[in-house]
Amino acid sequence: MSLALYRKYRPKNFEECLGQQEIVDVLKNAARQNKISHAYLFYGPRGTGKTTTARLVAKVANCQTRKTDKKFGLLGEPCNHCAHCEEIDAGRALDVVEIDAASNRGIDEIRNLKEGIRLVPSSYDYKVFIIDEVHMLTREAFPALLKTLEEPPAHAILILATTESEKVPPTITSRCQRFHFHKLAVDQIIEKLRKISAEEKFKMDDDALELIAASAEGSLRDAESLLGQLAALDARVTAETVEKTVGQIGYARTATLAGHILEGRLPEALEYVSKINDGGYNVVDLNRELIHYLRRVVSLKFDPRLEAIFKRELTGRELEQIKKHSAIIQPDKHLALLKSLIRAYSEMRYSPFATIPLEIAIIENLK
Ligand SMILES: Nc1ncnc2c1ncn2[C@@H]1O[C@H](COP(=O)(O)OP(=O)(O)OP(=O)(O)O)[C@@H](O)[C@H]1O
Ligand SMILES: [Mg+2]
Ligand SMILES: [Zn+2]
Repeated sequence: MSLALYRKYRPKNFEECLGQQEIVDVLKNAARQNKISHAYLFYGPRGTGKTTTARLVAKVANCQTRKTDKKFGLLGEPCNHCAHCEEIDAGRALDVVEIDAASNRGIDEIRNLKEGIRLVPSSYDYKVFIIDEVHMLTREAFPALLKTLEEPPAHAILILATTESEKVPPTITSRCQRFHFHKLAVDQIIEKLRKISAEEKFKMDDDALELIAASAEGSLRDAESLLGQLAALDARVTAETVEKTVGQIGYARTATLAGHILEGRLPEALEYVSKINDGGYNVVDLNRELIHYLRRVVSLKFDPRLEAIFKRELTGRELEQIKKHSAIIQPDKHLALLKSLIRAYSEMRYSPFATIPLEIAIIENLK
């Protein structure tokens, strides 16, 4: 594998961009109607398609079929065949400039941008500047950027991307068309991982793919990177391989322990904790996972509508398990349990005997 999977499978048109339907619709319409804005802010969690979408905007703005092919007016998608589309995909386009604000934080970079943006594009219709991690710019750099945003030349498109929009001054954000990127649902991630595995002829068990997807917490890039890493092992990848690689406790273990506790089986619960401890897993992580698990179980009891939200974050199997446990919740008893697990968590983090606070919390609630 010469090319990282997540780069090889970067969407080449809006249609392939998963989980960001509203954003994609607005941008396609803007392209079709020739109403692309001069300044965008793409914000949201890592690995959800911000940089990808910024490059797609650069392509639809400059695609050579924009003026010649009726299809463009219908779809608002890049053709992916013309010289401009190909150059942008290959990262060779002189008029598409990507600035990583994390490593170019200062006023000089933004001054260069201010000057560069005035020059007309060399062969394209639009000069596109993509400023990634824009929240990292220094305080002095923001006013210079603001000047550019206040009066961008007609041939310029500025796309700012960030995972931390609250760190970008409102004077900047208010001058941009803003799009909030969302975490991808577990099912969407699984589906893409399946497609890639089939195409690459990876040998992956179905529940291994589910685990990879769940561990990515909504970031498709993280999922694809992990998939690539596991595929390189060159053996059939099982759920167990994934758990070992990620070093995670895993949903199945957490659910088993939660079952022992919720159904009042004290000896089994304690034995299970020491088994996990002996297996070399971190019990602080175990308790954190347990707290997250029980939090879902308890809150589902009080608000069944949460199921719709959990559905995005969990696989079908995991959700069924949570629902089963939610049915046996006794609110007073289990809220007290949750509280003492949380107390144990802060004690465990600094204790040389990390298991003990967890065991005590379990005993106190089940005795
Ligand atoms: N919405 C999506 N649809 C399809 N693939 C995606 C999506 N989001 C991310 N990917 C995959 O993850 C890779 C990285 O995505 P991208 O660089 O666009 O993420 P990002 O939001 O810019 O992340 P970061 O905040 O870390 O910069 C893409 O090349 C693609 O393979
Ligand atoms: Mg990015
Ligand atoms: Zn094109």
